[in-house]
Amino acid sequence: AAKTPTSPTKGSAASTPMGTGKEDGSALTPDVKVKTPDSDHQGVTMERKVGLISGVALIVGTMIGSGIFVSPKGVLRETGSVGPCLMIWLACGVLAMLGALAYAELGTAIPKSGAEYPYLWEAFGPIPAYLYSWTSVIVTRPSMLALISLSFADYATEPFYDVHCPAPDSVKKILAVLLVLLITFANCWSVKLATSIQNFFTAAKLLAVALLIMVGFVMLGFGNTEHLQIENSFPSGKSPSISAIGVAFYQGLWAYDGWNNLNFVTEEIKNPYVNLPRSIIVGIPLVTGCYLLVNIAYFTVMSPLELLESPAVAATLGTRTLGVMAWIIPLSVAFSTFGAANGTCFTSGRLCYVAAREGHMVSILSMVHVRRLTPSPALIFNAVLSVLMILPSNFDVLVNYFSFAAWMFYGGTFLGLIVLRFTKPDMPRPYKVPIIVAIVVTVASAYLVVAPVIFEPALEYLYALLFIFAGLLLYIPFVHYKISPKWMDPITRQLQCILDVVPTEQEPL
Ligand code: ARG
Repeated sequence: AAKTPTSPTKGSAASTPMGTGKEDGSALTPDVKVKTPDSDHQGVTMERKVGLISGVALIVGTMIGSGIFVSPKGVLRETGSVGPCLMIWLACGVLAMLGALAYAELGTAIPKSGAEYPYLWEAFGPIPAYLYSWTSVIVTRPSMLALISLSFADYATEPFYDVHCPAPDSVKKILAVLLVLLITFANCWSVKLATSIQNFFTAAKLLAVALLIMVGFVMLGFGNTEHLQIENSFPSGKSPSISAIGVAFYQGLWAYDGWNNLNFVTEEIKNPYVNLPRSIIVGIPLVTGCYLLVNIAYFTVMSPLELLESPAVAATLGTRTLGVMAWIIPLSVAFSTFGAANGTCFTSGRLCYVAAREGHMVSILSMVHVRRLTPSPALIFNAVLSVLMILPSNFDVLVNYFSFAAWMFYGGTFLGLIVLRFTKPDMPRPYKVPIIVAIVVTVASAYLVVAPVIFEPALEYLYALLFIFAGLLLYIPFVHYKISPKWMDPITRQLQCILDVVPTEQEPL
């Protein structure tokens, strides 16, 4: 039988001295009372503060970030025409919704923060849970920051270049790297600064999406429907191949990523049995609706070909419709991505810090700055990995890296749900999804992971796999047998002096 996780918040960021790991602006402020290294050693109390509204905001706020402004190109390129393209956007929304419903069963049956981490542990034991945290720290989280920063660079450079003279790749990459450095610096500087940035920039993304949707409606009102190809949205002889559909899903699902965000903070949800499923049922269709409307808005203004050629689709839409006010779109998208990068950096730092504190990473990564109380080694480590990912690759390659690794673990978790129905049939399940939902999402994830590898083999999948399994090689000596090589100590001490960081006290959880 699988062992139950010993710590209720393992894998979550909830009990760190730095505040909770939520990416939605409004909820970023620390609301967990914890002891700091210099406070008295009282117990930890976690307050349940997330109700229905903030639950929905947490889901919507994490999901909307960069993808809807960047992925439409990738989805259209793979699908070829408007009809299949919109179908993929809808299908991604449905997949996110079904996946989230499966997670609602897991989240209410295993009401622990940390999403995949406690679920994988409960279903399959500690090793898959470890591999999940390892993969998140090494692959998925840094690639998220890299992706969002590259999208930021697309939009921030847009006003200074045009179709005839597009921004050179090198300029975009340098800008993306600068963003990673700036945001990491802010996050190392103070938790307060990071949370204020988040609150301010969250409004920007809602503004950007609302503006795009409004423009779309106005254009539809003027009868601009020719590019929607309403009579012929599924041109014959142009249906996408199986592998193209897989890659299109990767692109679209990036925009939907974050659908599981509420499961990271289950322990802070008021009445989670009701509010977790409800927030999902409200939040995800809301995002799906917005994404479909934004895509339609793009097509009211440009033809599929023009969309594929635009370096920043939302900005092109602005230039063509808003006249002198066109600058507002690239600006609000740049703000939106800036906020998303900040939130992602914030939570990634916490995840790495918690994993290190559990002994899953080198100890230096579990330390915090003596006065600033920010997990600066973890934040810096995440930034270094992100920069390493930005420099050699581009958005599309990175999305593939990310989605491949991410869906492997989402799929594993869905499978865990099915396994638990058999291994622990009597476990209380206050919210139960029809088993067919779990089967559908498991099969869909298996397809997502396997199809691109088989039909369009690329080195990045191999790299991702190697990373994941390298984790196993480290697990056996360093985590299982707890071997700590002597030569590590002086290095750790040196780094501690340079970074001014100390270990935190681990609360008895
Ligand atoms: N969907 C977001 C975007 O379009 C990315 C979310 C990344 N995932 C996360 N858990 N922060 O930018």
